[in-house]
Amino acid sequence: MTTIAIDRSRLQRLLADERSAYAEAHPRSATAYAGAQPHLLGGVPMTWMNMAAGGFPLYLKRARGARVTDIDDREYIDFALGDTGAMAGHSPEPTVEAIVRRVQDEGGITAMMPTFDAAWVGAELARRFGPPVWSFTLTATDANRWAIRLARQVTKRPKVLVFAYCYHGSVDESFAIPGPDGRAVARPGNVGAPVDLAETTRVVEFNDADALERELAHEDVAVVLMEPALTNIGIVLPEPGYLDDVRALTRQHGVLLINDETHTFSAGPGGCTQAWGLDPDLVTIGKAIAGGVPAGAYGLSAALAERILADPAADIEDTGGVGGTLAGNALSVAAMRATLGEVLTDAAFARMTEVATRYTAGVRGVIARAGLPWTITQLGARAEYRFCAPGPRTGSESAAAADLDLDEYLHLYTVNRGILLTPFHNMALMCPATASADADAHTEVFAAAVADLTG
Ligand SMILES: Cc1ncc(COP(=O)(O)O)c(C=O)c1O
Repeated sequence: MTTIAIDRSRLQRLLADERSAYAEAHPRSATAYAGAQPHLLGGVPMTWMNMAAGGFPLYLKRARGARVTDIDDREYIDFALGDTGAMAGHSPEPTVEAIVRRVQDEGGITAMMPTFDAAWVGAELARRFGPPVWSFTLTATDANRWAIRLARQVTKRPKVLVFAYCYHGSVDESFAIPGPDGRAVARPGNVGAPVDLAETTRVVEFNDADALERELAHEDVAVVLMEPALTNIGIVLPEPGYLDDVRALTRQHGVLLINDETHTFSAGPGGCTQAWGLDPDLVTIGKAIAGGVPAGAYGLSAALAERILADPAADIEDTGGVGGTLAGNALSVAAMRATLGEVLTDAAFARMTEVATRYTAGVRGVIARAGLPWTITQLGARAEYRFCAPGPRTGSESAAAADLDLDEYLHLYTVNRGILLTPFHNMALMCPATASADADAHTEVFAAAVADLTG
């Protein structure tokens, strides 16, 4: 197939038009952003909000299901869905009802007492993901941090192995890429690393079993922390047999395996772990499971749970480093129970995946007809396009395909026409309320963006 190259000066002209249209359409958001500068770091409640295309973020007025409305009263089909935090849709009714019941009718957002909801959620997570024993956190980051600590405690080994260009939240050990000699070095921009990354971390490319074997042979790795498919540098799918190799090699070298299902939850009700029949020692998750209320969780194999509970040197109850005051609070477990029990159900995942398949086919068709060297990859309810073809095999290949101008152009083009993609990804996620017509609306706008770009 012949492919065409992007005309960069045309792209710059189009980008300038889209930036002007964005500024013109959102005066209230622009004013609110300017007014917030003095007392918020970077002028935003969370600094990554500055990565939104267009120079300032849109301020939220209201959101329901697959729709958000900004303070300039413009409504969008929301494919960003809080970067997975709102995968259940915005304010899904059963979750809202459970929150109101807990907070208003019964009372008690957080107390030093368990509620019945927690055991129900533990059993449901076990049904979906496999590990039988669960504990709660407030974020996926904390789930990963505490899972890593437990793994170190049990194995008596110091290091974590991760994959180049992974993201697992603000976990110190994970911001690594391979240096020239293969040793871990910090990713550019890593803030205040406590020690040289090579002291805590080994890092390899995804889909490279030989490299994994080489690094595990040092026998100093406690745990492999992985997403079964990378999702934070585009989507990089595992090649056939690769995850079997990972499991075999980790077992062979006495290394524990964490599946971080925070994003790959999109693959189905039990994430990739269930969808692909995986057998990790630990599963971590956060973001979506409580419908947007802060909540995370980690699950342990029975053997691991037994070893931790029996270890007299492991203080998992007080100040041993695996707990949080608000973790497992009554509000977040109530929200988890309602979200898992009534919103992100098995049936909902089937529908969400169907819509994502339609979205993916639409984008794929546009790319093919235009002859662009781009690809789109689907993982259940989630899809993302990348500016390379064939799709990347590793995080580094995917990172090399980044094109910030194209990203900004496509984000602005779509937002100016009523569609929100995930900032700093080209990711679209479907929630139970996302309709086939929403996927088609995106295809139409994406086709127009490509037509304007390619002339
Ligand atoms: C795979 C994965 N794990 C963990 C996290 C951390 O989530 P949080 O920032 O909610 O702690 C993220 C965030 O994007 C993620 O993508």
